[in-house]
Parts: sequence; C-alpha cells; structure tokens
Amino acid sequence: MEVMDHTFGRVFTDRGRVYTASMQPGKRVYGERLYTVSGTEYREWDPRRSKLSAYLTVGGRCFPFRSDSRVLYLGASSGTTPSHVADVCCEGRVFCVEFAQRMFRDLVKTCEGRPNMMPILGDATRPSEYAMFADSVDIVYQDVAQKRQADIVCDNMDAFGAEFGMVAVKARSEDVTAPPEQIFEATEARIRERGYRILDARSLEPHEKAHEMIVFRRDD
Ligand SMILES: C[S@@+](CC[C@H](N)C(=O)[O-])C[C@H]1O[C@@H](n2cnc3c(N)ncnc32)[C@H](O)[C@@H]1O
Repeated sequence: MEVMDHTFGRVFTDRGRVYTASMQPGKRVYGERLYTVSGTEYREWDPRRSKLSAYLTVGGRCFPFRSDSRVLYLGASSGTTPSHVADVCCEGRVFCVEFAQRMFRDLVKTCEGRPNMMPILGDATRPSEYAMFADSVDIVYQDVAQKRQADIVCDNMDAFGAEFGMVAVKARSEDVTAPPEQIFEATEARIRERGYRILDARSLEPHEKAHEMIVFRRDD
C-alpha cells in the first residue's frame, strides 16, 4: 500500500485501486472491501460508486482535502463518498447536506461512529437555512445531480467563505438533449464568471458516463 500523492497524503493506492485509512475499523459503509496492512485498516474506494474516486482513478490530482480540512458536502446521499472524505479529513469536519428524507436516514447511520461527519437535512439551493451548522469551511464539494450546478456550488462557496470548490457535473441533469461537452463548457464559464479559477476539469469516463469533475478556487 502506497500513499497516492505526497502533496495530499491520506489517499492510498495499490495495483491501480484507491483506498482510504478507515476512521471506523471493522465497519463497511457500502459493502466495500477492507484490508489490514501493518495494523492499519484500509477501505477500498470504488470508482464505480464514488465520483471522487473516479476522478482520482482517471488521473485527477487537484485534490484539496487535507487531514484538518473543513468540508461542506452537498448531495451526501447515504454517505458513501462522504465517509471516504471523512477518512481523509480525519482531524477536520465534513458537513453532509442531503434533502431526501430516506437517504438522510441512512446518512445518519453512516455518521454514527464517525465523529467528524455531521448530517444536515437541508436543501443545497438554500445555504442560509443550514448556515448555523457550519460557520466557515475550506472546501465545498457538490454532487447534487440537478440543474444550475455551477450556481449552487458557487452560492455555497460565497456563503461559507470556501477557498476550493469541486463539482461533479452530470450533463443530463442540466439538459438531456444538449451535447455533454456544451454543458461542461457552459458550467466552467459560469464558474469563471462567478470569480473562481478553474484548476482542473476532467471527464469521469469510463466510470461515469457524461460526467465531468471541475476543481476550482477563489481567484484573489
Ligand atoms: C448522485 S447522489 C450523491 C451521491 C453521493 N455524493 C456519493 O458519492 O456518495 C445525489 C444526491 O443529491 C441529493 N440532492 C439533490 N438535490 C439536492 C439539493 N438541492 N439539496 C440537497 N441534496 C440534494 C439527492 O437526494 C441525492 O441523494
């Protein structure tokens, strides 16, 4: 097991697969494989189940998450990817926003036993409604799969003073009829218009069809 990239640490790789060191040894979140090496338990991070793992697997290396990062995670669902982010940001905090009641119930279970993960029942299009739970964050990660993805992530970055943003753009959620490339270009242009600098924009094929991960930062 090797550290994937020493600039960000805490993500590991072995024979092309990606892992995080588990915050909660012995516990699986989504049936992932667990391996113990030299007393540390690693959870396999499946690129078919997590767009953030897909981003790393296809060669993405703009990865702003550090061990003490505070992260606002929008579209947490049942907590699959947020649990890996919480492994990485083991001394930080991951505020997990989800608006679907059923997914939220599963998310609450995932957060049990992971003290740095906080579930928030909220609508990512209304940051003022959950501002009381997280005053400032370093990173906003967004995977809500709905329209206006650029504005939703930028509104949250502005509201929480985040330096870095990451958005998993699902072209079909913006417009089922438009070519995905056109949607990706329009999303990148909108992020720039909102005052942010794009650091990386990368297709998640073959793991996710017609998806692009965009990584950006405040441009000051
Ligand atoms: C593609 S799934 C997220 C998967 C998750 N990020 C992962 O990798 O484990 C999208 C989630 O976003 C949630 N969602 C969609 N719109 C939302 C909104 N406006 N506010 C909060 N959650 C939203 C959906 O209910 C769904 O659970």
